[in-house]
Amino acid sequence: MSTPAVATPAVTPSTESALLGTYKRAPMRIVRGEGVTLFDDAGRAYLDFASGIAVNALGYGDAGIAHAVQQALDTGLVHVSNLFRTEPGERLAEWLVAHSFAARAFFCNSGAEANEGAFKFARRWARTLVPPGADEAPGPFGPCAKHEIVSLRGAFHGRTMGVLAATDRPQYRAPFRPLAGGISIAERDVKELDATLDAERVAAVIVEPVQGEGGVRVVDHGLLRELRAMTAERQIALIFDEIQCGLGRLGTLWAYETTGVVPDMVTLAKPLAGGLPMGAVLVNEAIAGAVQPGDHGTTFGGGPLVANVALHVCERLGDPALLAHVREQGAFMGEALKAIGERTGKVRALRGAGLMWGVDTHEPAAQIVGRARDAGLLILTAGDHTLRLLPPLVITRDDLARGLAQLEDVIGVAQ
Ligand SMILES: Cc1ncc(COP(=O)(O)O)c(C=O)c1O
Repeated sequence: MSTPAVATPAVTPSTESALLGTYKRAPMRIVRGEGVTLFDDAGRAYLDFASGIAVNALGYGDAGIAHAVQQALDTGLVHVSNLFRTEPGERLAEWLVAHSFAARAFFCNSGAEANEGAFKFARRWARTLVPPGADEAPGPFGPCAKHEIVSLRGAFHGRTMGVLAATDRPQYRAPFRPLAGGISIAERDVKELDATLDAERVAAVIVEPVQGEGGVRVVDHGLLRELRAMTAERQIALIFDEIQCGLGRLGTLWAYETTGVVPDMVTLAKPLAGGLPMGAVLVNEAIAGAVQPGDHGTTFGGGPLVANVALHVCERLGDPALLAHVREQGAFMGEALKAIGERTGKVRALRGAGLMWGVDTHEPAAQIVGRARDAGLLILTAGDHTLRLLPPLVITRDDLARGLAQLEDVIGVAQ
């Protein structure tokens, strides 16, 4: 039987490879990393103030991570499935529970997946709160009581179909409408939240204590306290998305520690397994009690290799000496950025905490990112006119000062 001829679709030349064109990649090809420096295939070095978008908290070539990988490989177990018990995942869950508000941990493979899980756990728990009969719908999958999820203006919670509806970026949402139902975005405003958070309809509110993609916005702690009071009173789950701002980035192990508020769930990913793909949902006792076998699952979640590495990473990121280092370097970074703004006159606003800073510029941020890369410094954007700086948490004062001097040069030359 002859195979019918299939026309080969034209590949956009700019992709330069067989990869689907979902990213506009920088031209250089990275081949190696060491400490806080990346190297391309032409031997050029780049000081990294991006950390693989808040992932590589311990930098590159870390001996502890290599050891944890090898230790897991030595058992012959990369994956077993969640049908059986394995020690690394159980030890990691015990560590996370012992060092946080949480009663239980669920493991998955990415940030978006962690938030999807948190939404499901919130709905599962909320369903246990509605009076018998109130949840009866016309069909088996019809509308239900207490199911809505509310996120905040400026939020980024991921790109999969559920969480996309909670992500406040019109250009990420528009091409994929209709988005998932029962998820809406509210202003970061106490009055609006008070009106939106109807106890009978809303199951959860999700908040990044510091909005990363949305411009490095530290959500007002007073607002978070009001939100905690409202959600507690109305039996609405409060989810903190700490995927970018948690695990040491603000100088405390958990971002919620900086806010004076304890949430009901925390989602984690990015730095959790030292660059291996892993996400987690930490849940309190009440929510843990509502989740039953079969309610949720994921094939790879919490496998022995990633969990062994994550346990090592968590122990390192939870070290009080490392957290003190982040606070100290973060304070230095904030002062230095303020001085750069004053000297260059090119900075409109500065926001951040710990080693997570956003710098608003008059010039389009992408242009500055390009010049920085040409000068050997990797930085990120967070919106059209905001630079985002996320150096590895282990960065030394000298490297921080060196990168900030480079940054001043590339900001300063703007017209
Ligand atoms: C706060 C926040 N939540 C969720 C996500 C989604 O994580 P992932 O890209 O691993 O799905 C991100 C990623 O940037 C994030 O910054």
